Amino acid sequence: MRTKFKAWTKPYIDEHSEYSLADEEISSLDDFYLEIGSGKGDFIIQMSEKYPNRFFLGVEKNVTCAGITLKKIVEKELKNVKFLFRDGAEVIRLLKNHSVNKIYLNFSDPWPKKRHSKRRLTSVSFLEEYKRILKSDGKLVFKTDDLDLFNFSLEMFNETGFKIISSTYDYDGSDPDDAVTEYQTKAIEKGMSIKRAVLGL
Ligand SMILES: C[S@@+](CC[C@H](N)C(=O)[O-])C[C@H]1O[C@@H](n2cnc3c(N)ncnc32)[C@H](O)[C@@H]1O
Repeated sequence: MRTKFKAWTKPYIDEHSEYSLADEEISSLDDFYLEIGSGKGDFIIQMSEKYPNRFFLGVEKNVTCAGITLKKIVEKELKNVKFLFRDGAEVIRLLKNHSVNKIYLNFSDPWPKKRHSKRRLTSVSFLEEYKRILKSDGKLVFKTDDLDLFNFSLEMFNETGFKIISSTYDYDGSDPDDAVTEYQTKAIEKGMSIKRAVLGL
């Protein structure tokens, strides 16, 4: 599903730098919750409202999605969120070792072609970086409706030494440390099952 380009989003993002962070600030973050690929923001907004004592960082590289999410954050005046219109790979590189409590990957782009597999957010190079930035008791939480991506990811978790805390092909949405995303709503409407895994180090 492609998001139709909206011209207002880039100027809006530029006007609302109060929710962004400079590289040095990204590098000094500690004790926070990271979502890569926030889409239109349903997850990070619900989670930041549900857990006001947690600090959330959202990252989204699509300008229209980033603008839509940021507008919701600005309108709700959320105090425990920062949001970056950037590529997650770039942001992760800036983060310091063992600084993240949880990394959430929700309905990440599947990149089904083999030649694009390195772009998947659960490919080995990303997972090695997640291991570096997660706290020793940190978790990676991965949710998707894409069976091939899920199976690929389970293999990669195993290859990189992540421990599977839980894994299901039919997630019922009952974990309190979770919120429904835009893609999840669409998948449920289509009768698709949700796959979800929680990983530790
Ligand atoms: C399929 S959508 C899912 C959106 C949302 N998480 C949901 O569940 O509804 C995947 C999103 O991840 C973003 N994305 C993919 N790779 C990314 C990356 N390397 N850095 C930041 N965002 C990324 C895409 O632009 C897209 O908005």
